[in-house]
Amino acid sequence: MTDPILSVRDLEIAYRTGRKEKVTAVSGVDLDLYQGQSLALVGESGCGKTTLGLGLLRLLPKLGEITSGSLRYRLKDGTHADLLTMGKEPLRRFRWNEAAMVFQGAMNAFNPVARIVDHFADTLRDHADGKRWTKRAVEARAGELLETVRLDPDRVLPSFPHELSGGMKQRALIALAIALDPQVLVLDEPTTALDLLTQRQIVQQLHELRQRFGFTMVFITHDLGLAAELADRVATMYAGRVVETGSARDIFKGPKHPYTAGLINAVMPVAGDRPALESIPGYPPSLKAMPGGCAFHPRCAFATAECKLDPVALDVLAERPQGMTHAAACLHHERVGLARPARSPESGKETSDV
Ligand SMILES: Nc1ncnc2c1ncn2[C@@H]1O[C@H](COP(=O)(O)OP(=O)(O)O)[C@@H](O)[C@H]1O
Ligand SMILES: [Mg+2]
Repeated sequence: MTDPILSVRDLEIAYRTGRKEKVTAVSGVDLDLYQGQSLALVGESGCGKTTLGLGLLRLLPKLGEITSGSLRYRLKDGTHADLLTMGKEPLRRFRWNEAAMVFQGAMNAFNPVARIVDHFADTLRDHADGKRWTKRAVEARAGELLETVRLDPDRVLPSFPHELSGGMKQRALIALAIALDPQVLVLDEPTTALDLLTQRQIVQQLHELRQRFGFTMVFITHDLGLAAELADRVATMYAGRVVETGSARDIFKGPKHPYTAGLINAVMPVAGDRPALESIPGYPPSLKAMPGGCAFHPRCAFATAECKLDPVALDVLAERPQGMTHAAACLHHERVGLARPARSPESGKETSDV
């Protein structure tokens, strides 16, 4: 068994919210990702998915900071590096060449006055490492990349972003992200805001690209349907923590954290009858008012008094190789499944169902 391409240990990320105040947005994340795997980070909005994704490439905004932990990558040349102690210049080389990100909502972040070919030119030249990218070389490489995502280079390269549809922009961005052949690709909500047909095309494309280039993929989504299609591993995030992790097969067959079960129930048909579009009551907590104990307890149908006492650690439920071990952070995991439970009498006050 080869070693992981990415090893995260006890990662904590905070945002500065005032002169002295900070809020912790991600904590205690451990993760081993192996070559070629595709991991879905799932959870509702505000659970810390983007923060973790940005953290994985040290791309956090100014007010964000990795406050502890380690972030070890196996580089293309077989050496290892901890991203947290990496200097500015090696870090610049690391990005795009070793790992790249397609940002949430980036379709709208293209520079509106630059043609698509200029975006490729900038990226290739910025990370050229001595290689000279002539106009022709850029066009050739960009054309090749666009063809891998089934865009017509003659049409797309000279276009301005506003001349392309959302789906075309997203595909161009994916092509751009793989321009320097990274080993790891992080995609943040890559299909959100696209119509269903376009979503299907993007999913298909990502499948093809993975097969062709074998890169390792982390994709962030609140759409469990998408996770089921694209991921071979799933990690559920809630209130900044990974509360369940395992193979997509284990998770979709038998989620063991009530939050994961709730997310799946909300999108998947229950036992073949009507689709259960039942949402989990309430919202994820604000970072400034984190419930004690298990942060999910105020919304949880399984919660008992015990759940309010201490944070709950991930408990290994089934050992699997290559980071696929199924683990859940729930005291009541034995009772959790896809059938919806009755509310336990001891459970905390009901959050209003909105
Ligand atoms: N720049 C920021 N300053 C302060 N808090 C932030 C900032 N960005 C995100 N957060 C907070 O961090 C938490 C996680 O956000 P985010 O990572 O965007 O979650 P997700 O991607 O799962 O929606 C949220 O509570 C959000 O309000
Ligand atoms: Mg996000």
